[in-house]
Amino acid sequence: MRRPPALLAAAFALAAPGPAPVQAQAAVRVPTAASAASPDGTVVVSVAIDGDGRATYAVTRRGRPVIAPSGLGFLLTDAPKIERDLELVSADTARRDTSWTQPFGEWKTIRDRHNELAVRLRERKGLRREIVITFRVFDDGVGFRYSVPDQPNLHHADIAEELTQFALAEDGTAWWKPAFERNREEYLYGRTALSAVGTAQTVFTARLASGTHVAIHEAALVDYSAMNLAGVAGTTTLKAVLTPGSGGAKVSRDAPFATPWRTIVIADNAPGLYMSHIELNLNEPNRLGDVSWLRPGKFVGVWWNMIKGDWTWATGPRHGATTANVKRYIDFAAANGIPGVLVEGWNVGWDGDWMGDGTAMRFDTPTPDFDAAELQRYAAARKVHLIGHHETGGSVSHYDAQLDRAFAYARDRGIPAVKTGYVTDAGQIERVDADGTKRREWHEGQWMVNHHARVVATAARYRVGIDSHEPVKDTGLRRTWPNWLSREGGRGMEYNAWPAKNPPEHEANMFFTQWLGGPMDFTPGILSLTGVGGSPILSTLAKQLALYVVIYSPVQMAADTPENYAKHMDAFRFIRDVPVDWADTRVLNGEVGDYATVARKDRASDDWYLGSITDEKARTLTVKLDFLDRGRTYTAQVYRDGAGADYRTDARRAFAVETRTVHAGDAMTLALAPGGGQAIRFVAGGRGRR
Ligand code: NOJ
Ligand code: CA
Repeated sequence: MRRPPALLAAAFALAAPGPAPVQAQAAVRVPTAASAASPDGTVVVSVAIDGDGRATYAVTRRGRPVIAPSGLGFLLTDAPKIERDLELVSADTARRDTSWTQPFGEWKTIRDRHNELAVRLRERKGLRREIVITFRVFDDGVGFRYSVPDQPNLHHADIAEELTQFALAEDGTAWWKPAFERNREEYLYGRTALSAVGTAQTVFTARLASGTHVAIHEAALVDYSAMNLAGVAGTTTLKAVLTPGSGGAKVSRDAPFATPWRTIVIADNAPGLYMSHIELNLNEPNRLGDVSWLRPGKFVGVWWNMIKGDWTWATGPRHGATTANVKRYIDFAAANGIPGVLVEGWNVGWDGDWMGDGTAMRFDTPTPDFDAAELQRYAAARKVHLIGHHETGGSVSHYDAQLDRAFAYARDRGIPAVKTGYVTDAGQIERVDADGTKRREWHEGQWMVNHHARVVATAARYRVGIDSHEPVKDTGLRRTWPNWLSREGGRGMEYNAWPAKNPPEHEANMFFTQWLGGPMDFTPGILSLTGVGGSPILSTLAKQLALYVVIYSPVQMAADTPENYAKHMDAFRFIRDVPVDWADTRVLNGEVGDYATVARKDRASDDWYLGSITDEKARTLTVKLDFLDRGRTYTAQVYRDGAGADYRTDARRAFAVETRTVHAGDAMTLALAPGGGQAIRFVAGGRGRR
């Protein structure tokens, strides 16, 4: 559809009930070229083009600016940038209101209701290149992406940088972790003024001075490099910084192509951020069809003893993955209805210095003391499956060359999921091209994004699920590839084995940042509450249980050892009972970095579960049980911090279990200790009352 630009504002501004959009803080007022409102009119995106032909977009919510006019465009390595002298060629609109089903997830049914505005921009002189920017406007935020059509002066793009900006309209507080540091994605979230942000990874979360909460991230990161955000010093503007590759261009693509979606979720409060489905809705539907072969579920693993250094991945007297050890873990899993047993260090290749060099790894060859055939038989007889492990040490081409063999090996041994690993410093992924050229890549660069796509697609062919550690961040691709079950991509429980432990606020930070992006294999449940040398973990016992509800992951580890669980069977009962697959999720309260309470409904029964966690502060939270079915009686099995519980002392273990009868509409008071939490199972009983 083509019309003269002057008519576009009137023609394409969709009817927006509610207050008229307020012009954001632009230095110069530039007429809106096109705009679109969300279905209920809450969120409005407008695109403007200034006298130099620079296009900007801006976002308002209930008439109040959230994103002030912000730049768009590309720097190219081998051609002039695409940023100025642009004119609006056309603006197309569309509406969508559909629902779809997650095969497993936090919600069973997800509604995708948005209005779309696609603006086609063309350079009015010179190369006359064209780009299309498509905005999808939801009631809780916006996603937009660039499409580059194939055209005479742009058959191929070598992108040096994306010129996308996010000019937050107010100052406020930001929660972010640094990008491009040695330990990849494994950094604590810090909190600064928005105007003091350095170079941050996404998910990036901010609370504006007015109280509005914003989370910036991306969706559908495919054949492109990951986006980070750099604060423009002394301003509240963030600009996109793509992850580098080994070559000059950060992204190299033949036209036509589209970038990932840049997403801005906007909510009144922190819980509202988690309730958004924008990211999943901006991913393509399931490509695998029936995925009943995937086996979401809990797992135990030959793992924590290696992380603590008591056992080794390498062969020798302390080798963890021996037939005898694995049988004990299988027995424990079978006795407790836990379907999976992860085994690390089962294969040849760990005996040297594997961190940063996985070239000895063979993913189809067990060590002599790991009897694969016997363990397959032993596990199957007990209705348990093994979970495989592929640690690449960052030698990714070496792994690529083995992918088919590795997943055929897993399939043939009844292994439905594999945990992968990429332990090497940032920027040190080893890539070896067909001609023998060696390069060093970044974990989130385009080449690694494409590597993960190869792994997930290959694994799917062999009906294997993937749980990637040291991965690329989650951008919702689990919708398209449901076998991409989970990932790490942050500081998980393993840090609590080591001296620099996760602080009590860590999970309350993660819930409103990284975990907005999707599942994490955090590996909760260290009920011993001790790391190396008995060093205390900065959590109460009850908080370890609460994490099973707070954290969503379709593969969720019971990370402690059978011996340690044997000492805490009262608490372990919650881990045994809690499911991993949910029909519904509600975030009942929370503040970024302070606390969060989550209620989730089991997909396989009528039971609900609740998890509540706090930071270093004790809190008393009152929650209304209005998520329960009316007219039904529930038995609440409460696992709470005991009297005097405190993460700073031995009282971190103070813990109590009690049972109460509750109904929808009742209120419950949750008393959380410093560093504490609470877990509740609501067992659905009979109907008939109220
Ligand atoms: C780091 C991972 O996060 C951890 O879970 C794994 O055990 C080691 N790498 C070895 O692969
Ligand atoms: Ca890790």
